[in-house]
Formats: sequence, C-alpha cells, structure tokens
Amino acid sequence: MGTPFAQKETEPYEDPLDLMEEIDALKVEKGAKILAHFYVDGDIQDIADYTGDSLKLARDAASIEDSTIVFCGVHFMGESAKILSPKKTVLVPDLLAGCSLAESCQAPELKARQDELRAEGRTIVTVAYINTSAAVKSLCDWIVTSGNAQEIIDRIPADQEILFVPDQHLGRYLMEVTGREMILWPGACMVHEIFSLQDLLRAKKNNADSIVIAHPECPQNILEVSDFIGGTEKMRQYVKSVKEPTMFLVATESAMIYPLQKIAPQHTFIPVPGIMESTGETCACNRCPHMALNTLQKVRDCLKNGSPEITWEPYFDQAKGVLERSLLKN
Ligand code: 13P
Ligand code: SF4
Repeated sequence: MGTPFAQKETEPYEDPLDLMEEIDALKVEKGAKILAHFYVDGDIQDIADYTGDSLKLARDAASIEDSTIVFCGVHFMGESAKILSPKKTVLVPDLLAGCSLAESCQAPELKARQDELRAEGRTIVTVAYINTSAAVKSLCDWIVTSGNAQEIIDRIPADQEILFVPDQHLGRYLMEVTGREMILWPGACMVHEIFSLQDLLRAKKNNADSIVIAHPECPQNILEVSDFIGGTEKMRQYVKSVKEPTMFLVATESAMIYPLQKIAPQHTFIPVPGIMESTGETCACNRCPHMALNTLQKVRDCLKNGSPEITWEPYFDQAKGVLERSLLKN
C-alpha cells in the first residue's frame, strides 16, 4: 500500500502512566501482545511484550500464540507479521507509518527492471531488504534484514547475478563485506542518509576516546569513519560487550539511544545529528517521522477498537513463501 509522508499530529494530553495502565488491562482483556521496534518511543518499548530489530520481531510474530498482535513499528513490519502469522489479528497504531525505503521501490518498477535484465539474457536473483512492501517481496527470491543479510548473500551461488533492492547504501556495504558484485536499486533511508559528517568528525575530535557506531543504512562517508557497523540488535550486543564506561557516537535513528542505555547503562550515548540538504543546517532529523507516529494513545485506541488492522491481500501468498524461507528456515 502507498504511504504518504508521515506527519505528526497533535493529540490531547493524557498522562502516560494512566495510558500504560489502560494498555496493560486491554492486553489481558483482548488476549494481545505488543511488539515494538527499537526505533519507537521508549515508553512504548516499556509496555511492549517483545522488543527487537526487524529480524527478531518477525520471528516473534511467527512464534507467539496469542490471537492478537499490536505491531508498533512501520507498515512493512506489520505486514510481515501478518504474512508470517495469517491466523492472527495484526493491529498497527497508525496505518500511515510508512518507510522511505519501501516507498522508493514499487512493485511495477521492480518487475520492469527484472524483465529488462532477463531480456538481456541475465540470470538474476532478487534480494530484497525487509524494508519493502509485500507486493515487492512477492517478486523476490530472498528477503534479508540487517541481521542476516551477509549470511544469505554468501549462500547464493556465485554464477547468479544479484539484484539488491531497495537500499543502495546497505547494498554497497554488503558488496564490500561479502565481496559480491550486485546490481543496486537507488533507494535510501531518509533518516540514515542525512547524518552530518562534519558534526560527527567534530564530536569525534572533541572526544578522542569515543567510539562511532553506525547502521549499515548510512552512506559510505559515515561508515568509513565508524568503528562498528551493524543493525540495531548487533549494536546493542556490541555496546554490551564493551565493559569500560565509554562515549558512543550513534549514527542511527535517535530512539535507539533508549535500548542502548538500558542494556549498557555504564556508557554515554550521543546521537549524531542530521543535516538538511536544502539549507545545510543541522537538524533533529535523526528521528524517523514514521516511527514517531506510534504513540501510547494510538496503541490504546487500536487495542480498544480492534483497528487499524492489516488484512490479508492476494499477493501475501507469494510473499509468505519467500519470507518463511528467508527468515524462519535458518
Ligand atoms: P534493524 O532494526 O533490522 O537493524 O532495521 C532498522 C530499520 O531501518 C528499521 O526501519
Ligand atoms: Fe524506513 Fe528509515 Fe524510518 Fe527505518 S528509519 S522505517 S528505514 S524511513
């Protein structure tokens, strides 16, 4: 489904503690579990039954037994949960929470590109980052996340060409670590693409012992100056493994600071700021506007009303096979 650019609406103020209590009661009443990505607000992560990166949450969605899932994240995540757990009711707090990466690769354009490459006589395997719509997934051979991409690409026979969609930066990074040439789609994440290299270098210089950690969705110039590159769960495990109190400069969505602080409270975490291309000004654009559409009020309301819901679409059947093979059978 198409998701227009997300806008934060203003909601009437309600006490977060009251909302949390209400949500806890509704979870029991409705037989629901809440799944929350590390990029949603900390208070939502606190009331969630499961938190994690895209890979863990997809697996959690497939394995939990409750009849209802509330997926706090973005649309493609709720969609994947529904596909992996068709019998469950999958609710999302806001259907408009999309993803710039998923938007950048539409199914008809992907199909046209695949046809073009095949018409040239090329044997291609299409590998999609999980940040894609189910319609796109249904056209692909493998689905990867930041947690399993390298492993899956390593398994693809060397005589097959890989078309990797939609994140050009993650794709370039994967080419580097796997040594595999790939045809890249020109997509990018609106948050990870705009980190300010200048601010990062200045912070690094002013804090000589700091460690830069970056998500592989960042462009090459940021990854080149990073000490550790990994998806959100890998980042968490890495900061936990560092015992000495350390300053980390974090190049990913800023809500990630919350789970990092929780797992390794001995450290200091500084979010790297973004920079606006139009004016060159530093901005707080390291917050994903789509993830930010998840609020406690909307979690409460969707539990109460049983909507918005992700409903089954005909192309989910095809996407189910590729998602299961890629994420559950390893
Ligand atoms: P991971 O949590 O899988 O690293 O993905 C990050 C992301 O971009 C989610 O939108
Ligand atoms: Fe999509 Fe980027 Fe937001 Fe993740 S952070 S949901 S990749 S727009």
